[in-house]
Amino acid sequence: MCGIFGYIGNDNAICRVISGLEKLEYRGYDSAGLAYVKQGEIKTIKSIGKVENLKISSCAISSKISIAHTRWATHGSATEKNCHPHTSENFAIVHNGIIENFEDLKRKLNYEFYSETDTEVVAKLLEEKYRECRKKFKVEDAVLHTIKETQDCLKGSWAIALICKLDPKKIYVFKNKSPIVVGIGKNESCVSSDINAIESDEFNFYNLEDGNIAVVKQDDVKFYDKNLNPAKLERIRQVQNKYFEDENFSHKMIKEINEIPFSIHQTAKIFDSDEFITLSKRFKKFKEITIIGCGTAYHAGLYGKYILEKYVGKKVDVVLASEYRYKTKIKSENELVIAISQSGETADTLAGVILAKESGATTVAITNVSSSSITRECNFTLLTNAGPERAVAATKSYVCQIYVLYLLACKIINKTPQRDLDRITEKFLKAFNGRFFEKYYSKQKFFFIGRLCDSSTAFEGALKLKEIAYVHSEGYPAGELKHGTLSLVDEKSLVVAILTQNIIKEKTLNAVHEVLARGADVILITQFHDIDFSGDIITLPNVCQEIAPLVSVIPLQLFSYHYAIAKGLNPDMPRHLAKSVTVE
Ligand code: AGP
Ligand code: GLU
Repeated sequence: MCGIFGYIGNDNAICRVISGLEKLEYRGYDSAGLAYVKQGEIKTIKSIGKVENLKISSCAISSKISIAHTRWATHGSATEKNCHPHTSENFAIVHNGIIENFEDLKRKLNYEFYSETDTEVVAKLLEEKYRECRKKFKVEDAVLHTIKETQDCLKGSWAIALICKLDPKKIYVFKNKSPIVVGIGKNESCVSSDINAIESDEFNFYNLEDGNIAVVKQDDVKFYDKNLNPAKLERIRQVQNKYFEDENFSHKMIKEINEIPFSIHQTAKIFDSDEFITLSKRFKKFKEITIIGCGTAYHAGLYGKYILEKYVGKKVDVVLASEYRYKTKIKSENELVIAISQSGETADTLAGVILAKESGATTVAITNVSSSSITRECNFTLLTNAGPERAVAATKSYVCQIYVLYLLACKIINKTPQRDLDRITEKFLKAFNGRFFEKYYSKQKFFFIGRLCDSSTAFEGALKLKEIAYVHSEGYPAGELKHGTLSLVDEKSLVVAILTQNIIKEKTLNAVHEVLARGADVILITQFHDIDFSGDIITLPNVCQEIAPLVSVIPLQLFSYHYAIAKGLNPDMPRHLAKSVTVE
């Protein structure tokens, strides 16, 4: 989590880092801060809350160099003291990740600590190492050796940008497991947690690998490996997508839901790509298939199991990436591990991919970010092409993950996929009227039910509601209610039943009758027109039932959005959460 942005160049660095942080705010937003150098001294400005507050407190300052941070606290609450940058006599640093051995290091270091963070320990450790290195080397080499020795002592994950007061024309960057990109332009350079936060077509971009150190100057960058040998990094491309302007929508989340038709259109292009064809040809050779992911991406994985088992006839396991990492790994021949991740940076999923590779599996990333860490680790990448997703709640990216899995299953069995889903979803969104949602906002218990692939949609509906409307809700396979959870259902409950699969039509309806009999209200979301039901029905467009979850999730996303708005909440930045979970 957290966003790092650094700038060095002819512009006012303070304005540039603030504008960078604004684009990175989706990564964390409990506090924000920046550091710059003035008359040989490091200065910091910090503020609690949104980047907007930092902007107000720093608007009068000007500098040619600055590093900045928008935080998602892991160690220590969101106070000004804990806010980054963290400093020691000569250094200011911003950090993304967790230093797992910080307590150990803290005990060994003879310093007074002002914050509760793991990050401050790194600032002090750098200082400690620098004392010796300064005696042996000139400034730049001294800082490089300082970083090397510091990195050797750290455990955990970090992307760190630092400035040194004795070398005020450079930003040093180093990383392990957390992402960071360097962009070099004409007379200006940036470092950022996300390439899309750097606004320029004219930059050359480089993704740092674990262990790399970058020395970034206004017009140049040098890379080193962890032993300080010069390293050569490949340039990466920034993919620009034309999506709607933010101004047309009150929130990013609703903008992104409305982008679903265009995202589907973009994602469809994957069907004829070389990577897709190669993977689909090899697919049948794999003996074991495992899908890993977290949160919404895990729910897409559940759909993946449904569609691959149904179309391809192969057994598929779906495992939460956070569990996969620590499960007893049974050695297998010929395993394919599919990692689903919008950001491509989720720490648990990334660790799962690395583990899978170590055990000899072929790995596939289904991700929305072409330059992400997971993409770089995997043998194959299937890009969802949903366009940048900034609201914390995944909406269009989930739809596109499902679509990629459906297209893959079709490709493997040489089936022509349904192609007009962009047009169908566009029409559905235009005609959708969720005004009746309002009457259910006073309910106290929310259940989402469905069977087969409708149960993954149910899980996703419940997660959305928890995430952005702060309402306790449960997603449940409809057939399981009677094995325990039905005891909770009463007139204070709303049950949203999803029903798109012919084979379980009557069975899901049985569950609907069971909850109605206990006094619950029901919203039925279905593509069947012949159901005799007197409550609120959302009729889905007529799509092939194997891809119906792509459409049936949309009303659930809208339900959560409108509920959050009705409660006066900002759905783009739910409390305690961040878009990209780069810590374990
Ligand atoms: C979705 O609304 C959530 N924000 C969350 O569950 C998310 O899907 C999860 O953290 C995984 O993220 P990823 O797809 O970027 O790996
Ligand atoms: N662990 C650090 C902190 O809590 C950094 C967290 C982050 O990545 O934002 O301050």
